[in-house]
Amino acid sequence: MNIGSVRVRDVPESDIERALALSHLVFHESPDDERRKQQQQELSGHLRIGAYDGEELVGFAAAHPFVVSVPGGADLPCPGLSYVSVAPTHRRRGVLSAMMSELFARWTEQGAPLAALWASEAAIYGRFGFGPGTYGATVEIDSRRALALRVPPDERALHLLDARSVPTALAPYFESTRGLRAGRHARTEAWWREQWMARTDEEDEDLSPPRVVTLGDPLAGYAIYRTKAGDWSGGTAGLVSVEELEADGPEQAATLWRYLADIDLTGTVRAHGRPLDDPLSLFAADPDQVSVKNVEPALWVCLVDVRAALAARVWAAPVDVAIEVLDARITANAGTFRLIASPDGFSYAPTGDAPDLTVQARDLATAYMAAKPVADLVRAGLVTEHTRGAASMLDAALRTELLPHTGDSY
Ligand SMILES: CC(C)(COP(=O)(O)OP(=O)(O)OC[C@H]1O[C@@H](n2cnc3c(N)ncnc32)[C@H](O)[C@@H]1OP(=O)(O)O)[C@@H](O)C(=O)NCCC(=O)NCCS
Repeated sequence: MNIGSVRVRDVPESDIERALALSHLVFHESPDDERRKQQQQELSGHLRIGAYDGEELVGFAAAHPFVVSVPGGADLPCPGLSYVSVAPTHRRRGVLSAMMSELFARWTEQGAPLAALWASEAAIYGRFGFGPGTYGATVEIDSRRALALRVPPDERALHLLDARSVPTALAPYFESTRGLRAGRHARTEAWWREQWMARTDEEDEDLSPPRVVTLGDPLAGYAIYRTKAGDWSGGTAGLVSVEELEADGPEQAATLWRYLADIDLTGTVRAHGRPLDDPLSLFAADPDQVSVKNVEPALWVCLVDVRAALAARVWAAPVDVAIEVLDARITANAGTFRLIASPDGFSYAPTGDAPDLTVQARDLATAYMAAKPVADLVRAGLVTEHTRGAASMLDAALRTELLPHTGDSY
């Protein structure tokens, strides 16, 4: 794939350092030597695509070999696009588009049913067939007073865990609950160590290293959080910033939220990227004490092979609809297909029938993950419903007990 003098090709091991330098340039980052070394090691095992203008590397993208849960709990191979960088001297002349075309060709060749990414800016990836596959909410608790609860907290013992033991202590629990929600990728030990426990918040360098609290033995829940001291002279209380909270059920979650809200010398608990159906807002006895500050797309998902992706998810109710899929990038996905599915069966094949629904690839990905109902997309004018009732029939089939969610970001 060429655009003018720019050629898109693999980035050899020997160019990883240059690729990282480009990525640090465009993301305005200057990581320390240890982090650079980690990134180099990480990239050496990844698919790496570059855009070269002569010998100059002007574009770079890499794909993590992720495995992501889809509705129903199955795990699918899902390359995780990352490090997407185009030199400021070469922006807006199609370098990213050319790299994406190459990546789609590679992913199709590999037989990847899905691809995913976390976007730096939400406006970029819809044109490439990615739609929000999970959403996250920022939730704040006013913890200047004890958290009032409508459910009895689980009174088993809480323990603070040495952060270094996190991969062994928490990974099996996370892994056992991961498939309950779509959109969660399997974490390697390196991911736990390097993405969770070693990450720093560049926007807030005053936050403490991660602290970890666990509930019960066997484990019934945990929270990873960091704290920041208040300003004594200005009279502002400190902050508890929650990175992840997982629990068996509402009583266990209540215990962990109560613990976080009770931490001395702090007055706010803030949690980013919470699932939109987090029960906290419901079981808080004083709804004014818990507020949802904003909701944003988290993991963006693309159905690289629509049929394979649909075949791997569960179907909550019978559906029989003809869907016209508009996909300018992956032509094998485009066309009208009859979807016949139920809890016991699945078929998806080209049809000459008139479509009941017309949907763009990006919106199909969002509907697939059950991140938004198709009916909402119809109401927004994004999906066209040619046959009345088709969207609600499809929604009943796509429905999942819990909303998709990923707490990770990258
Ligand atoms: C974002 C980035 C990769 C885009 O690369 P690029 O080579 O300029 O993109 P292209 O020229 O291929 O653009 C393709 C299309 O996307 C649009 N686009 C690209 N970046 C966009 C942005 N940040 N916001 C909105 N639209 C964008 C272009 O306008 C173009 O639209 P068109 O097809 O209607 O003409 C590049 O600007 C960059 O490296 N930014 C800093 C790092 C970053 O944000 N990376 C993304 C990480 S998820």
